[in-house]
Amino acid sequence: MEIQLWKEILEPYQIAVEELLVKFQYLIREYRSHGKYSPIEEVNGRVKKISSILEKMHKKKISFENIENRLDDLAGIRIICQFVEDIDAVVEIIKHRSDMEVIEEKDYVSNPKESGYRSYHLIIRYNVITLSGTKNIKVEIQIRTLAMNFWATIEHSLQYKYRQNMPEQIRGRLNSAAEAVVALDKEMSAVRHEIMDSQNSFQIKAMVVAEILNTIQNLYSAANKREIIKIQDEFYRVYKLGDLDELIKFGRELDIIAEGYRAQGIAEQ
Ligand code: GTP
Ligand code: MG
Repeated sequence: MEIQLWKEILEPYQIAVEELLVKFQYLIREYRSHGKYSPIEEVNGRVKKISSILEKMHKKKISFENIENRLDDLAGIRIICQFVEDIDAVVEIIKHRSDMEVIEEKDYVSNPKESGYRSYHLIIRYNVITLSGTKNIKVEIQIRTLAMNFWATIEHSLQYKYRQNMPEQIRGRLNSAAEAVVALDKEMSAVRHEIMDSQNSFQIKAMVVAEILNTIQNLYSAANKREIIKIQDEFYRVYKLGDLDELIKFGRELDIIAEGYRAQGIAEQ
């Protein structure tokens, strides 16, 4: 097939991947900017390489006319979570979105594959709008934990290296590594609340500090230099205490001061 034709077929899939990445990244940002824990740790995506498409067509005896029908993973999104519990949360989020329609669901988390592979797969339908109109295409979304992703990445490279002939001994190692991943995910779940708490307060602190610095910067144009230096010194003192509540209290006091200047500024206009 001509290269130009491949490009034409794959173009909407490229757009879908780019749009979905923006949407999931925005979701992460929204959680974090509200000081909330994001069930998505990171997201990435790709359009299947032409060489891999050709290989799969050959393996599954698929003709050119049928690739879009038969291949669910021309567009692929991978969502990585910290904890197993996050996977369900992400699945729910996707199911409730009006721009993604789930048409297939495979739970290899509860029912791992024989290889030991674990991951939650969704096939969704997604509308892409191009110059030639709206095209409804399929996208495969794989949702897995950091630990599951580690295992799948290594196993995939080994599969690639050995093709159909993976030595028994390596298969065995991979099987026990898969068991270790289950155990690791379980252990992490047990300390999930502790971890989430500390991550949360870390993020809230970063937000409070950013807001305080922003307010101080705005004060530069309104307050006199001596007062600003006083405020800055006070900020450093409170910051060094390392107490989040004190920092929040300082931020509130600063807001009142800034509000005073704003009112004064308006009165002077
Ligand atoms: P494919 O022909 O591979 O698409 O299989 P399928 O249509 O039965 O779908 P399935 O849900 O089994 O697999 C879809 C994708 O999941 C694959 O393309 C891989 O990216 C991933 N996957 C499935 N099984 C394994 C596995 O044993 N190891 C690794 N590393 N990845 C896997
Ligand atoms: Mg498939």
